[in-house]
Amino acid sequence: MEVAARTAIALLLALAVASGCLCGGAQGRHHRHTKHTRHNSAHAPSQAPGPASSRRHAPPHAPGASPPAPPPPSSSSGAGGAAPAPAPETAAGGAAAVYDVVKDFGAVGDGVADDTDAIKTAWDTACSEDGDGVVLAAAGYSFLVHSTVFTGPCQGSVTIQLDGTMVAPSDPDKWPANNKRNWLVFYNAHGTTLRGAGLIDGKGQKWWDLPCKAHKGQGGSSGHGASCDSPVALRFFTSNNVTVQGLRVQNSPEFHFRFDSCRGVVVSGLSISSPQQSPNTDGIHIENTQDVLVANTAVSNGDDCVSIGAGALNVRIENVTCALGHGISIGSLGKQGTRACVANVTVRNAVIRRSDNGVRIKTWQGGSGSVSSVAFENVRMDAVRNPIIIDQYYCLSRTCENATTAVFVSGVSYAGIRGTYDARSPPIHFGCSDAVPCTNITLADVELLPAASSSGQAADEPFCWNVYGNAAAPTVPPVACLMDGVPGNYADKSSLKCY
Ligand SMILES: *[C@@H]1O[C@H](CO)[C@@H](O)[C@H](O)[C@H]1NC(C)=O
Ligand SMILES: *[C@@H]1O[C@H](CO)[C@@H](O)[C@H](O)[C@H]1NC(C)=O
Ligand SMILES: *[C@@H]1O[C@H](CO)[C@@H](O)[C@H](O)[C@H]1NC(C)=O
Ligand SMILES: *[C@@H]1O[C@H](CO)[C@@H](O)[C@H](O)[C@H]1NC(C)=O
Ligand SMILES: *[C@@H]1O[C@H](CO)[C@@H](O)[C@H](O)[C@H]1NC(C)=O
Repeated sequence: MEVAARTAIALLLALAVASGCLCGGAQGRHHRHTKHTRHNSAHAPSQAPGPASSRRHAPPHAPGASPPAPPPPSSSSGAGGAAPAPAPETAAGGAAAVYDVVKDFGAVGDGVADDTDAIKTAWDTACSEDGDGVVLAAAGYSFLVHSTVFTGPCQGSVTIQLDGTMVAPSDPDKWPANNKRNWLVFYNAHGTTLRGAGLIDGKGQKWWDLPCKAHKGQGGSSGHGASCDSPVALRFFTSNNVTVQGLRVQNSPEFHFRFDSCRGVVVSGLSISSPQQSPNTDGIHIENTQDVLVANTAVSNGDDCVSIGAGALNVRIENVTCALGHGISIGSLGKQGTRACVANVTVRNAVIRRSDNGVRIKTWQGGSGSVSSVAFENVRMDAVRNPIIIDQYYCLSRTCENATTAVFVSGVSYAGIRGTYDARSPPIHFGCSDAVPCTNITLADVELLPAASSSGQAADEPFCWNVYGNAAAPTVPPVACLMDGVPGNYADKSSLKCY
């Protein structure tokens, strides 16, 4: 995929520039890292590491445990630091060397001093040592960190245990002009775990307020400030077998998480939040990435809860709660004639509240490739505007020409989709391309009622355009608009599938 390749090259250049800036940056204090004390858990007093032996046998993709109770908001004044370090143990179990960013690397943790160098050096040190290492950013501290690339591969696997707070500089002017697209980047960081009871705060408000951003209620469509760069809070790029667990992440200037060109991702027990009016603040974005589990996570934000882009394969989303934003989306795909392939996506046990969409597939006119084997199971909707939607006419400007090609959508099942919808839009909308119909779209056990808040509004019938499949009766509302069987030239259409 040419576009993907170009994007990758551009990113590599950006990374090179970014790391150059970091290495050459004259600003800030220079810590003397003469003493890198290594605390070994074998010598750590009193912290029973738990049943390490059983953890050691856990498969690498073991479903994450339920999210821990959200910690009380930690003081950002950083006065404390008295909290004992948790058991220094890697995700895989077993003893690990601990690299304490405060004790060993001179981080200040008062939310004001620049701790970028300390944290980066702790990572680099852990990464270059044999064996598994834990970079500890302890509770009670607030670490101000500038745009940073955590680069691997490492000798062992590195866990960042964040129990304190990590904050971004809040003023867009403080960011280097050529590097406003990422805050914390993990690059080739195979086997990395980022976890803890801490908070990652992207301080996005001043970015959202930039005049180049589109805002809700100001004529523009919401959430598309493409004309000005702003940073993704956490970006994992070409990093395999990565785990993110337990953290709170808030107020990203742009996407909160972006996984790009990764293989093996487990995201579990997160709480992600930003205001409903914050543009482009997708919770978790996945593209060119396979074998992904997103579990036990709550997202409340201003754009997609989870967005699944081109090249996503084998993605499971389970026990996710989405509020206020644009729901769970596959797409947009096929922009500017690009080819996009997405397959084997399962969304199970989700709750979607007061969002613009529930479960959505959106493609532009003129693309190619396919979306196939998608299952939405047991999704509860609460006053959602478009609970079930396939939109193959996705368009952000006023005019988008209809094209003769499209991303082929096939094999999408909706089962156990219940709850209420905002009756300003029809509860079910299948707007498939004129050129390429959607096929094998199935519904079972669907019950969607107008929300109490939209009483008086005449609810629209389910809408279908050029869509084949079946609805197992009864559904509420009845869905009578799907065409039976397959389109005439089905063999040709099937050949459009990527897999
Ligand atoms: C989802 O939640 C159910 C019920 O709490 C739990 O049994 C299941 O393990 C969770 N799924 C994952 C992937 O953690
Ligand atoms: C992920 O980890 C597993 C288990 O350690 C390993 O077998 C697999 O090769 C890794 N996958 C990738 C893509 O690195
Ligand atoms: C679909 O993805 C799941 C992981 O989400 C994986 O376990 C399963 O093997 C995949 N199915 C196919 C047919 O590849
Ligand atoms: C594109 O096709 C759809 C479906 O046939 C139609 O409703 C719409 O008006 C067309 N748009 C343009 C710009 O021709
Ligand atoms: C229809 O899609 C389902 C997945 O939703 C798949 O299992 C099934 O094989 C597809 N049927 C046909 C005839 O392609």
